[in-house]
Amino acid sequence: MYSKQMAITFDDNIRMVDLHTQYCRLKEEIDAAIQEVLNSHAYINGPQVTTFANHLADYLNIPHVIPCANGTDAIQIALMALQLQAGDEVIVPAFNYVAATEATALLGMTPVLVDVNPDTFNIDAQKIEQAISRRTKAIIAVHLFGQSCDMEPILRIAEKYNLSVIEDNAQSIGAVYTFASGETKKAGTIGQIGTTSFFPSKPLACYGDGGALITSGDELSERIRMIANHGQDIKYRHKYIGCNSRLDTIQAAILNVKLKYISELTKTRIKVAKQYNEAFKCLPYIITPYKAPFSTHVYHQYTIRVQGEKRNDLQSYLRQKGIPSMVYYPIPMDMQEAFRMHARKTDNLSVARQLSESVLSLPIHSEMRDDMQEYIIEHVKRFFKITG
Ligand SMILES: Cc1ncc(COP(=O)(O)O)c(C=O)c1O
Repeated sequence: MYSKQMAITFDDNIRMVDLHTQYCRLKEEIDAAIQEVLNSHAYINGPQVTTFANHLADYLNIPHVIPCANGTDAIQIALMALQLQAGDEVIVPAFNYVAATEATALLGMTPVLVDVNPDTFNIDAQKIEQAISRRTKAIIAVHLFGQSCDMEPILRIAEKYNLSVIEDNAQSIGAVYTFASGETKKAGTIGQIGTTSFFPSKPLACYGDGGALITSGDELSERIRMIANHGQDIKYRHKYIGCNSRLDTIQAAILNVKLKYISELTKTRIKVAKQYNEAFKCLPYIITPYKAPFSTHVYHQYTIRVQGEKRNDLQSYLRQKGIPSMVYYPIPMDMQEAFRMHARKTDNLSVARQLSESVLSLPIHSEMRDDMQEYIIEHVKRFFKITG
């Protein structure tokens, strides 16, 4: 069991994610796992890496998990393993972390920016078809903030136009998608390739960088494995142009511990989210996160929309009270200087713009104490009382 006993006492600072307290709860197991790697000297590709890949594959109910160095590499490797070429177009959401757009552009492909759904924040499947051209080869569905994109319409479009589907599941590992038939699958296991990140703040996280690719394709998994390892099929024989992207053994050892607790840690975040929902339901300026009927929500982020152009003032007010909050994401991809020459868009991406001006993510993590959350809620309410 995830221990509620803490060996160390903590300050009362509120954090977006409290990795330190979580570490203290798991300290014994994590320290032992790290020590085992140090004792073995197998820092690169030690047995813990394979053990973790197998455990994660079991958890996701998928045949192949290929660890790599981080979630951005995972997307790049996915595009390479699908044998896409420079000049190909890849559909990506406009409201997103940079990784999908960046990896696509880095490989000389064109990211085609598609607007998102205002409720789920995920790519709007209704707007994908109008963005497809003869050069379009893939869709990257990014499962933002803790819930899955609506995958069924995306799969239908992909089939119609013969496109590959990559799922960027850096933020929603553990979320479950339900098809219209009632069949369920974990997010990240639905398209040709799923990718994820184990960045320290992610739902499944290590204490450094880490990532993985997920697939049910046997051949694809072999190609991914080779590309992540300099394109080698056997040592010093390079079949593909690849890269060097490995998960450190120490990080794999930490992930082996963390994976055991993923369901418990998720449950505690869901509890925090429900308490926020309940507290904010009467506040007219706040739209609480929408939970789509087709997906569970693992609440990697608790992201509200603040109406009436009050978002920035609310954030400043909370900051004064010692409450951190974050704007994920303040600038949509079409407005990023880096992609001005590289990305294509087919409409004005107005939802992405509206969201970037109104979203605010509040602290949510497995270690949130009730008194801390009450303090946050109280100050959010007070802000609206003061500003009317
Ligand atoms: C949606 C999404 N995709 C990809 C990544 C990239 O992961 P990493 O930082 O491990 O490269 C992140 C990380 O923040 C992310 O949030």
